[in-house]
Amino acid sequence: MASNAELIVDGKSYSFPTLEGSEHEKAVDISNLRDQSGYVTLDRGYKNTGATQSAITFLDGEEGILRYRGYSIEELAEKASFLEVAYLLIYGELPTQIQYDAFATGIRRHTLVNEDMRKIFDGFPVNAHPMCVLGSLVNAMSAFYPDSYEGNQNTDLHITRLMAKLPTIATWSYKRSQGHPINYPKNELDYIANFLNMMFALPVEDYKVDPVVAQALNVLLILHADHEQNCSTSTVRLVGSSQANIYSSIAAGVNALWGPLHGGANQEVIEMLEEIKEGGGDVAKYIDMAKNAKTTGFRLFGFGHRVYKNFDPRARIIKKAADDVLSKLGVNDPVLEIAKGLEEAALNDPYFVQRKLYPNVDFYSGIIYRALGIPTNMFTVMFAIGRLPGWIAQWKEMREQKEPIGRPRQIYTGSTLRDFKAMGER
Ligand code: MLT
Repeated sequence: MASNAELIVDGKSYSFPTLEGSEHEKAVDISNLRDQSGYVTLDRGYKNTGATQSAITFLDGEEGILRYRGYSIEELAEKASFLEVAYLLIYGELPTQIQYDAFATGIRRHTLVNEDMRKIFDGFPVNAHPMCVLGSLVNAMSAFYPDSYEGNQNTDLHITRLMAKLPTIATWSYKRSQGHPINYPKNELDYIANFLNMMFALPVEDYKVDPVVAQALNVLLILHADHEQNCSTSTVRLVGSSQANIYSSIAAGVNALWGPLHGGANQEVIEMLEEIKEGGGDVAKYIDMAKNAKTTGFRLFGFGHRVYKNFDPRARIIKKAADDVLSKLGVNDPVLEIAKGLEEAALNDPYFVQRKLYPNVDFYSGIIYRALGIPTNMFTVMFAIGRLPGWIAQWKEMREQKEPIGRPRQIYTGSTLRDFKAMGER
């Protein structure tokens, strides 16, 4: 690899150092580009721009590789628990039994949410979107833990509080939307069983956690745990780079994830499948509509990916988990049959194959969440619960690396200097 990159512009030559990561990714360090040449780069959506150097997650879009701290997601999904993976992402190593027990016990002890937060919670309309509630209450946590404001005090305690309280807050908004009483956490349950119990337990009947459901959720949360510098993670890092506290930084990530082009895509997938079902379930008709989107306005969600060029490795694992869960739970849902028809088309129709429009993680995750009985408007909340350790790990790394405040430049295209005109002269 060349040690320098040369830029020739306006008849002058400028040299910039290059660097190579541990997985041989290459970069040109243009930190001094503007000082040297007066030029900035323009890269809408940052498709070619590295914002940082990170040791947390590696993905290879061409080869369909995704690893957390060097461990493949295939192996982690098969052998680890979500809390083990959360510890790995946040602290850099798989925990020993002692480390794991301390981490899991700390989380168990902080699952309760300050009762005063219920006053904020009760102020939302009953049909408030759970992502709105989640982002608002996560940000509100900074009001209850002001020792998070000054620098990195008690960071581990704030990390524990976030990991512990997100599921509690998430289930509150669901129960309220159902008109059901909220459930309090039960410290004798593990992380995922506690979440399921808070989501689905009712005062009028006992709720038993189905191990098939719990294991499927464990895999889903692991697969969503981090994804290097995606939109919401970049948001967390950018907000955190201003020295904003961890709760406000994570809340910003929740809000970025809500977008239908990001974490909201899994909800869009199911709504798309419902639309096809309501329209008669003719998959071929909707495939044609997708091919003529400019005239039909019908957009396919859950296909293709900005980074993965051939397949999303998470989708392969989730597809198998979806098949397992549906058969074990004996789920027979016409929407899921429509999904299989779309998947078949996407994997075989030249239109999809040539455009690399294969089913992605959002296509299959919505199908599993639906089969687990999780309501559509909670799908992105599930994504947030899974992505939380990744956001935390990236925020922590950004702070430990003492990254400068993020402040991109621009190319101005507005009016040049002009004189003010009095109201009567306009
Ligand atoms: C994610 O996992 O964050 C999504 O696949 C989006 C992305 O990585 O850009």
